[in-house]
Amino acid sequence: MNLPPEAYLWFKSLHIIGVVVWFAGLFYLVRLFIYHVESQELEQNIQEAFHKQYSLMELRLANIITTPGMILTTSMAIGLLVIEPTWLSQIWMQIKLGFVLLLLIYHFYCYKIMNNLRKKECKMTGKQLRVLNELPTLFLVCVVMLVVFKNSFPTSAVTWFIVLLIILMALSIQFYARFRRLNQSKAL
Ligand code: HEM
Repeated sequence: MNLPPEAYLWFKSLHIIGVVVWFAGLFYLVRLFIYHVESQELEQNIQEAFHKQYSLMELRLANIITTPGMILTTSMAIGLLVIEPTWLSQIWMQIKLGFVLLLLIYHFYCYKIMNNLRKKECKMTGKQLRVLNELPTLFLVCVVMLVVFKNSFPTSAVTWFIVLLIILMALSIQFYARFRRLNQSKAL
């Protein structure tokens, strides 16, 4: 195949744009699931209106943002690999593909939750969904670190310090959210 020399950079740019769109969709989708599940604790008459609105928002977000983002990311990645197939023999790429597989499973699992919510058959609690919502962050951090550092993945004390800071930041966001929810339920 005779592609122009800048084709690789076009594929890479669109690949990164796809990643941003895909993750924006995944993050917001599970956030909507949390609001959807928690709206089931509201009074019966307003519960139905929330159910309809959240079901519609979830479906549109999944089909118009999240899945197109996933398709753009993967199709551009295939383009990159067609131009540079040697990446596939590198260990960082093989580990990256492992994380991407987990991410794809997560993506389709979100569709399952969305269908269960629409049919009012979802058994998951808001707390479980909040934990689930943390998973893509983990995949994102691992994949970005892998593509940037490739085979020279850092293991120095500075790296572990940064990892610790990220974990502490994530934990403090969780604690703050829990504290706010407790205060809200006390105020009701
Ligand atoms: C669908 C499977 C995927 C494959 C086969 C794939 C493959 C690739 C390839 C070959 C590159 C170019 C590497 C380079 O030129 O240095 C790349 C770049 C990149 N990928 Fe992926 N990728 C996939 C999914 C993802 C996902 C899910 C993310 C984000 C979580 C991601 C994030 C990135 C980023 C940020 C870059 C730019 C790295 C740089 O230029 O330094 N990729 N990917």
